[in-house]
Amino acid sequence: MVEDVVNPRRASTPVPSGSGPQKLIEIEAGTEDRLALDNSEFGRVLGGGVVPGSLVLIGGDPGIGKSTLLLQISAEVAATGPVLYVSGEESVAQIKTRALRVSNGAQPAEHLYLATETDVDRVIGQIEAVAPRLAIIDSIQTIQSTEIGSAAGSISQVRECASRLQAVAKSSGVAIFLVGHVTKDGSIAGPRVLEHLVDTVLYLEGDPYHSYRLLRTVKNRYGATTEVGVFKMGSTGMVEVANPSEAFLAERRRDAPGSAIAVTMEGSRPLLVEVQGLTSPTTFGHPRRTANGVDTNRLLIITAVLTRRVGVQLSDQDIFINVVGGLQVREPAADLALAAAIASSARDRALPPDLALIGEVGLSGELRRVPQLEPRLREAIKLGFSSIVVPKGADPGWDLPSQSKLHEMAGLSEALEFAFQA
Ligand code: TYD
Ligand code: MG
Repeated sequence: MVEDVVNPRRASTPVPSGSGPQKLIEIEAGTEDRLALDNSEFGRVLGGGVVPGSLVLIGGDPGIGKSTLLLQISAEVAATGPVLYVSGEESVAQIKTRALRVSNGAQPAEHLYLATETDVDRVIGQIEAVAPRLAIIDSIQTIQSTEIGSAAGSISQVRECASRLQAVAKSSGVAIFLVGHVTKDGSIAGPRVLEHLVDTVLYLEGDPYHSYRLLRTVKNRYGATTEVGVFKMGSTGMVEVANPSEAFLAERRRDAPGSAIAVTMEGSRPLLVEVQGLTSPTTFGHPRRTANGVDTNRLLIITAVLTRRVGVQLSDQDIFINVVGGLQVREPAADLALAAAIASSARDRALPPDLALIGEVGLSGELRRVPQLEPRLREAIKLGFSSIVVPKGADPGWDLPSQSKLHEMAGLSEALEFAFQA
């Protein structure tokens, strides 16, 4: 149950209404003068730069790096125009310390304004006073309106403050980024309650014990929703990872049993990842199945298919799966690599180091085709994988470089047999 305070001001919608229906062909399209960003990963995720007057929500777990990334973006934009960074969580001195850290000690651009404020009216006043190109609100859950009785972070506060800021963004043309913490216990309202209200929703994800961070588009009124930016949290802030596949494969041991290379798509971007499998005799009770980076249900299905359709004996084995780099692979196209990693560990035989595996595994042990094969193949070939197993009939329709070979396989057992004899 959520208390909803009646508030006459909420009735005002940010988009001007009341002009009556117009013919679509007579309406002039808006021109977007985007603010280009040097940070190309961030710019790409936004759909090609910051749109003036847009309201962007950046969600993520606490400590994942939202404030760090946005401070870096602010400093960059401030080189060409004023930027206002409003924090309700940290003192200006703390933010200054971080700014020096991410700029490696260099003084930030002159037009970066900091404010610590939690009252939405005063935040809006400051936006009007500074007239920035970009305003960052870190975080929306710490901002409150005095007109609403409930505490900061409650659903009604978060909604009210966001819709007030939405109106400011639309009327003034200032792009506003809202930071939203995702909380598991629900003690404060999560970013989800705002998704319908804002123009763009980005989520910053990653395993806190690994340094890679993925910035994903979930909704974008100004671009594609499948974009992903890859960053690495370093000692001087978030660094763009221009070639993620290379980074994720950097520590791979090429002759280790239980290691297989999958080619997944993160949005429109192919990514090679190492899937590791380990089987070990169960010492007590039920065999365990532990998946890190892939869905546990998927692991159970692949295990069952390996047992029934390929004849790999797994009923007395614990199975552990890990996707290297703290990545989450949600795509069925990684099934074949997952199966190969398990089989490779069970047989204690390494797969060929230059082999990449692409394909979804069906319940009858068949290999199914996957979308966007061409970008996957190009990425695998670029990184030197000369032997690529793909589902039957998945002809890319272009000539592969002579040193690379495609192996079309109809079923999982055929694919594994090929992989182990190659
Ligand atoms: P932060 O941006 O404060 O996270 P959020 O705003 O999403 O809560 O990031 C905090 C973490 O990042 C913290 O554990 C310290 C780490 N960090 C680095 O590793 N390197 C850096 O340069 C900075 C500024 C932070
Ligand atoms: Mg923060």
